Amino acid sequence: MNFELKTFDLADAAREKCDALIVLVNDVFKPGKDVLSTLLTQALKAGDLEIKVGKSLVLYHTSGVAGVRVVLAGIAAGSAKDVHKAVVSAVTAVKAPKVKKLVICFASLPEAAAVCAAVIAAAEAGYVYTTTKSKPDGQLIQQVLVGLPNASKFKTAFDRTLAAVLGIEYAKEWANRPANHATPSLLAGAARALAKLPSIKCEVLGPKEVAKLAMGAFIAVAQGSEEPLRFIVLHYNGASKAQAPTVLIGKGLTFDSGGISIKPAAEMDEMKFDMSGAASVLGVFRALAELHPAINVVGLIPSCENLPGGRSIKPGDVVTSMSGQTIEILNTDAEGRLVLSDALTYAERFKPRVVIDIATLTGACMIALGGVRSGLFSSDETLAASLMAAGESSSDLCWRMPLDDEYAEGLKTNFADVANVAGRAGGAITAAKFLQGFAGKFPWAHLDVAGTAWKSGLAKGATGRPVALLLQYLLATQK
Ligand code: BES
Ligand code: MN
Ligand code: ZN
Repeated sequence: MNFELKTFDLADAAREKCDALIVLVNDVFKPGKDVLSTLLTQALKAGDLEIKVGKSLVLYHTSGVAGVRVVLAGIAAGSAKDVHKAVVSAVTAVKAPKVKKLVICFASLPEAAAVCAAVIAAAEAGYVYTTTKSKPDGQLIQQVLVGLPNASKFKTAFDRTLAAVLGIEYAKEWANRPANHATPSLLAGAARALAKLPSIKCEVLGPKEVAKLAMGAFIAVAQGSEEPLRFIVLHYNGASKAQAPTVLIGKGLTFDSGGISIKPAAEMDEMKFDMSGAASVLGVFRALAELHPAINVVGLIPSCENLPGGRSIKPGDVVTSMSGQTIEILNTDAEGRLVLSDALTYAERFKPRVVIDIATLTGACMIALGGVRSGLFSSDETLAASLMAAGESSSDLCWRMPLDDEYAEGLKTNFADVANVAGRAGGAITAAKFLQGFAGKFPWAHLDVAGTAWKSGLAKGATGRPVALLLQYLLATQK
């Protein structure tokens, strides 16, 4: 999908040839003398259109308008959230094989955040997964023209958004791929491909190197599968070497069956998305290469499968993590925290300013926050506030959760330094407490994206979250 920003009034919009024209109208709209103004005025007067989100009117071959289809859509006061909703439903309404060129225009001056939201929403609604289809649907929208009364003012915000879209789509693509098309080795290939872009380097460790590092927790999870593990290390260098990097760690379980503590069959296919954290890290690097900000970022992806087999770890097994702490694995399905614990220890070598891990870690987080906000855990007030703010301004929301030490009580065991599960209560928090035990040497935050990284049901598919949040956070750290 190709996006272009253009200075455009409603008269220009009416003259532009396209397959579909979306006109966004907010509550301070003042009609001019052009055709679209007349249409809007008539529709509003007749009550066929309201300036509310979710209210729209679709027209076909309208006289005086070059666009084949026209959607008049209300955006209330024109907030980013309202524009996002309106554009998703307008694009969905006109999405058809013949619709290749789309024009989106604002009837009155929007905020920069609203322009960004329109772009993100058009990309989201226009996205089609094709990689494992024999005949791609051919539904792809190829060109999107965003028309504004004063385009030049929005250039910087627009370019940032285009980079975010590339990152989000890269994350979606890899998260959507089935586990047999996105093995740890293939994921490493995707990271290596990113290293062809400017300022990005990639290093991939295999079973031998990881054994040498004594990543006993990561190895324990991977040992039940024939598919060899990969530990992916990405570097983005946009600032001087002296500047401490931000480390992003993405959980990269390319499939999580639960292992010996096997999951029920229903919806187990969705555990191909258990590498969404990893995919979001890849997506962020894709966007960084586009924007080249003056920062340093390290991406770490521990990637493997969690399967039952003759070599699998068993409930009760005790393993030694890279940190030296021993872990009793009471439930082999609590594998994410095991692979992350070794990645957190590995992160120490970069003397990071901050470490953020991103993981589809617990079903409990999905129960707590649903699909609207990701769970945010951090012992660092400044970091928590910055991530929260980045979520709000990118419309990729998160919500802070507690980390009181009392939540770690249940992780105590007679047989190791720590157990990998506590009881059912507060499951997202006890998982975060487990991770915190490996994150003592740097400011740390954990994003549990179990509820937000993908959608189930008819709209099943990756969302690309939290790429937008992370990118917003990273760009704000520029000096
Ligand atoms: N990948 C899952 C978490 C998950 C489950 C995300 C369902 C989204 C939907 C994780 O590895 C897991 O299985 N966690 C267990 C932890 C439990 C055994 C303490 C869970 O949430 O059930
Ligand atoms: Mn699991
Ligand atoms: Zn998992």
